[in-house]
Amino acid sequence: MTVRSLGYVVVEAPDLAAWRKFGLEVIGLMEGPAGSDGSLRLRIDERPFRIAIVPGKTNRFVSCGWEFKDAEELESTITALRRAKVEVREGTAAEAANRAVRQLAHCKDPCGNQLELFHGRTYDYAPFASPKGLTGFVAGDLGMGHAVLPAAQLAAAREFYKLLGFADTDEMWLQMSPNPADPKLGIHFMHAACRRHHSLALVGMPAPSGCVHIMLEARSLDDVGYALDRCIANGAHISSSLGKHSNDFMVSFYVQTPGGFDLEFGCDGLQPDWSTWVPTQSVIGDLWGHRWSPPPA
Ligand SMILES: [Fe+2]
Repeated sequence: MTVRSLGYVVVEAPDLAAWRKFGLEVIGLMEGPAGSDGSLRLRIDERPFRIAIVPGKTNRFVSCGWEFKDAEELESTITALRRAKVEVREGTAAEAANRAVRQLAHCKDPCGNQLELFHGRTYDYAPFASPKGLTGFVAGDLGMGHAVLPAAQLAAAREFYKLLGFADTDEMWLQMSPNPADPKLGIHFMHAACRRHHSLALVGMPAPSGCVHIMLEARSLDDVGYALDRCIANGAHISSSLGKHSNDFMVSFYVQTPGGFDLEFGCDGLQPDWSTWVPTQSVIGDLWGHRWSPPPA
């Protein structure tokens, strides 16, 4: 009953061409084989895809796909969710095949975020080759990166994700205005059974697109810098300048995706030893940088 990593994310978009340009030409990801649902699939490692963009009416974030070790771990998690009165729908064989997994289940967290739980991911072993010369990503057993989701019911969401086997890494309460009476913005950072500092973060704020941001971790600062230059050259909105986070030491920038949510593109994220880690509380989000700019109206 322990979630291993963020396996993939699913996005809906009316304009796959915009995502193809952003994913391949701007960021430098590799196009994988299309899904049976006509989805554009982007890869960062030897998995058939890590980001699936499904054709649809709206630009929105659809779901996170959380990976489990085997059928036993997946089934015990489904049992724990149902015991907690969470509605879980078993995925069909066709749905599992389209996601390139052996078994799949669907549910929602208390804030309405959709999840897919799976095991048995297919590998095609095609080596990652970036069309823009990225040297590669810190992925594999660490999963694709992390997802930061809106969670108005922050405490309930955290307890829900503990049913999947997530554990606390860090808790952040940020003062968002000079008014000391303003309620602080809470962010819960949670890790799966892999060395990534957090595979999931929950933020007590709304996100109309369905996601605050996803993060991909490049292998080098040069990969990050070249990607930042390509984003600027292509006119993408840089939501945050380059900076270094306080809790996971990630050096990153944020760019708005065609889906309306941000992509954090970084490197050098902390990989804690969970046998000795003690969950922390952080009162600032950054050591330096990360100056935020609102999206154009
Ligand atoms: Fe992040």
